[in-house]
Amino acid sequence: MQSGFIGIFDSGVGGLAVYHAARKLLPHQAFVYVADSGFAPYGGRESAYITRRVTKIADALVDHGAKALVVACNTATVTTVAALRAKHSLPIIGIEPAIKPATAISRNGRIVVLTTQRTAESEAVAQLCIRYGAHVQIMLQPCPGLADQVEAGNIDGVEVKKMLRQYLAPAISLTSDVVVLGCTHFTFLANQIQNLAGPQVTIIEPSEAVARQLAHRLSSNEMISTNQPQATEAFYTTAVSLSAVSTVMSKLLGRHIEVLAADDLGLAKI
Ligand code: DGL
Repeated sequence: MQSGFIGIFDSGVGGLAVYHAARKLLPHQAFVYVADSGFAPYGGRESAYITRRVTKIADALVDHGAKALVVACNTATVTTVAALRAKHSLPIIGIEPAIKPATAISRNGRIVVLTTQRTAESEAVAQLCIRYGAHVQIMLQPCPGLADQVEAGNIDGVEVKKMLRQYLAPAISLTSDVVVLGCTHFTFLANQIQNLAGPQVTIIEPSEAVARQLAHRLSSNEMISTNQPQATEAFYTTAVSLSAVSTVMSKLLGRHIEVLAADDLGLAKI
């Protein structure tokens, strides 16, 4: 992989939907995806732990020649994106729960945001609620354990269904008409969430919006390379079992991919 790639990372597999959308929109770019599966999930950890991991991954990608970064993880963004932007001058796109768009489209002013524990408790989300929540009711619903299920590739098992029913119960009894997916892992549960919440509920899933923002930042900085006939990609994980991660990532992307060892981020093969 030559330098000048777009580095996309998450605690694990959740950011793959963002990657998929970005690759579709930017078909001539080089991409490197890093899943910090060996240190996931982030959602129940202290901020300091998450910041240490996220900084380490971002530093490694920058050192290897990334031209832009996408922090494809709400938990990582709300804890660390400001520090990353202070440290590195390349474009860095983050993902925060889409509270602003939710308030714009809600008809009854009752919004539920599904997140990890850390995101729900973050200052960044508190600020979004203050800024956009004056005339609406925003319920933050932490979903402990749910990202772990997706991480293990369990996207339609009995346990997932049980958790979804439990975590969506407040949204249903609140008769909220917008549910925000505030954790990238939950994208892979979007159909089930829609089925449980009902057709009258709009589910906000941010992958395409994030990809558009990435494309916009690259194009306004004249950073879109056109000299490759098609996108190139490489996937890395910090997990010990490469085959287990390859299996889950292939399942979620719907095609076979090979995942390489991040070598605790020496990212040997880049
Ligand atoms: N994918 C991450 C997010 O968007 C969280 C998953 C985890 O808990 O590690 O917040």
